Amino acid sequence: MTSPHRVRHPLPLASWPTREAAGRARWFSPIRIGRQLTAAERTWVPAMVPWRATDDGFVTSEVLEWYARFAEGQPGVLVVEATGIRDIASGPLLRIGDDRFIPGLRALVETVRERSRGRTRLFIQILDFVTVRRRPEPERFFARYLEITDSLRGQLALWLDDPRWREAPETDVREFLAAADRVTIETVLTDRELEALDYGYRERVWDMHLPHIRELPRVLPGFFAEAAGRARAAGFDGVELHYAHAYTMASFLSRLNSRADGYGGSRENRVRLPLEALEAVRARVGDDYVVGIRYLGDEVVDGGSDLDDAIWFGVRFAAAGVDYLSVSKGGRFEDAKQPKIGEAVYPYTGASGYECMPTVLSDHRGPFGRNVPLAAAIRHAIRDAGFQTPLVTSGGIATFEQAEGILERGEADCVAAARQTLADPDWFRKIRLGYGDLVRRCEFTNYCEGLDQRHKQVTCKLWDRKFDSGDHPSVRLASDGRRRLGPPSWSPPGEAGADARAG
Ligand SMILES: Cc1cc2nc3c(=O)[nH]c(=O)nc-3n(C[C@H](O)[C@H](O)[C@H](O)COP(=O)(O)O)c2cc1C
Ligand code: SF4
Repeated sequence: MTSPHRVRHPLPLASWPTREAAGRARWFSPIRIGRQLTAAERTWVPAMVPWRATDDGFVTSEVLEWYARFAEGQPGVLVVEATGIRDIASGPLLRIGDDRFIPGLRALVETVRERSRGRTRLFIQILDFVTVRRRPEPERFFARYLEITDSLRGQLALWLDDPRWREAPETDVREFLAAADRVTIETVLTDRELEALDYGYRERVWDMHLPHIRELPRVLPGFFAEAAGRARAAGFDGVELHYAHAYTMASFLSRLNSRADGYGGSRENRVRLPLEALEAVRARVGDDYVVGIRYLGDEVVDGGSDLDDAIWFGVRFAAAGVDYLSVSKGGRFEDAKQPKIGEAVYPYTGASGYECMPTVLSDHRGPFGRNVPLAAAIRHAIRDAGFQTPLVTSGGIATFEQAEGILERGEADCVAAARQTLADPDWFRKIRLGYGDLVRRCEFTNYCEGLDQRHKQVTCKLWDRKFDSGDHPSVRLASDGRRRLGPPSWSPPGEAGADARAG
C-alpha cells in the first residue's frame, strides 16, 4: 500500500526583505486585539509545552529562560504553554489551579516584559483534560485494572459454552484471561476494555456513567474563570482558552460527543459548555481583558467535527465576544498510534496528529501553510456575519513571504509559527532588522515533537550540538546531559556580544 506521506518536500525558498521593506510589511504592523490591547506586530508564537515546570506545576528558572529567549525575538504575541486549570497532579506541566502558582507566573510575566523590552504581549493558554493512563503490562491489566463484571462473565460463558463461568470467582476469571489467547480476549472484552488493554485507559467527555465526567458542565466554567482571574492577577495581557486538540473542550465540540444532557449531540448543544466557560471567564476578568480561544478548524478524525462545524462555532464565539480565534487542526486521540507498554497514547501521532504538526514527509500538498484555508474560511464567515474578531493561523509557516501572502490575501490577521520559532527564536527580529539570511530554518522533521511525546525537555536539533560542555560552563544542558537546553544567543552584527553567525 502506498503511504500517504511519501513525498519529501524541500523547504520553501525564502527571499528575505531589507530592513526598510520589513518596516513596511503587514506582518510587522500593529493590530488591535480586544477592546484595549494593541500588539506591536502580527507575528505570533503559539503555545508550546517545553516540559520544564516542576513535577507539581511551578515555574522554574528553565521555564523563565525558555520564555526569555522567545521574548528576545520580540514577537507581537507570545502564548505561554497549555497550563492546567485544576489543582491536581499533572507532571511537569505548568499549573494555574491555585493562588500559590501566581508568584511564579508573575516572574514569568516580568521576565518576558523585560527581555522583549516591553514589545511582546504575553497570553497564557489554559486547559482542562480528562484521564489518560499509560498502556499497561497485560499481566497487571488482568490482575488489577480490568473490572470483572457479570457481563464479562456472561461473555465468557457464551464463548466457552460453559454456564459455570457466570458464577466464577473473580480470581478464576482473572487467571483465565491472563493466559487466554488473543481471539478469546477480543471476543469477550468490550471495545473500551480492549482499548484500555492495548492503548491504556482513556476517558471520554461522553462517559456519562462516571460522576466526575457527568459533572463537567457544572464545574468547568468556574475552573476556567478562576484560572483566568489568576492569569490577570499575575499580569498576563490575556488568556487563551484551549479548546483545541485532544482535550476536554475540543471533545465537547466534537461531533463524536454524544452526551444526552444538553451538552452533546447537536452543534448548539456541543458549543454550550465552551460558551458557558467563555461567559464565566468574561464575567471574572472583565470586558477590557483579552480572552482568546484556540480551537480546531477540522478534527481530521472519522465522524469528528469538520470545517463546517468550525465555521459555525467560530461565528458563535465571535458573537459571544471572544477577542481572537486561533485556528489549529487535528491532534486528536481517536486515531493515535498504539503506544509502547508503559507509555501513554500521544495525540500528535496518526493522521490527525500529522495535520497538527505536519512534517516535510507529506502528501502532494506538503506541510507548508497547510492549515491556512481553514482559518481563511472561518475568517470570511465571521466577517460576513459582521464581526471583526482577529484570526490567527499556524501550521508550517516558515518564511516571510508566506506570512505576508496570508495577510495580503486576507486569510488571517496574525500569522503564528511554533517550530520555526523554536528553531530560531530570534527569527522575527532578524527579519525585522534585515538579517533574514541569518535565520536558522526549521527542517520540519519533528525531532522536537518526539521529545514532547516522551515528556522530555523539548529542544531543537539545530541548536549547536557540536560544543563540548566542559568548554561552555554557561551553557545549560538538558537533564540527560547531552543536549543544549536553550538556543545559541544572537545579537545584530556590530552590537556587543554579537554572535551573528551563531545560526
Ligand atoms: C513541542 C511542541 C509543543 C506544543 N504544545 C502545544 C500546546 O501546549 N498547546 C497548543 O495549542 N499547541 C501546542 N503545540 C502545537 C503548536 O502550537 C502548533 O500549532 C503546531 O506546532 C503547528 O505549527 P508550526 O508548524 O508552526 O509548528 C505544540 C507544538 C510543539 C512542536
Ligand atoms: S527539532 Fe526539527 S522540527 Fe523541531 S524546531 Fe528543530 S528543526 Fe524544527
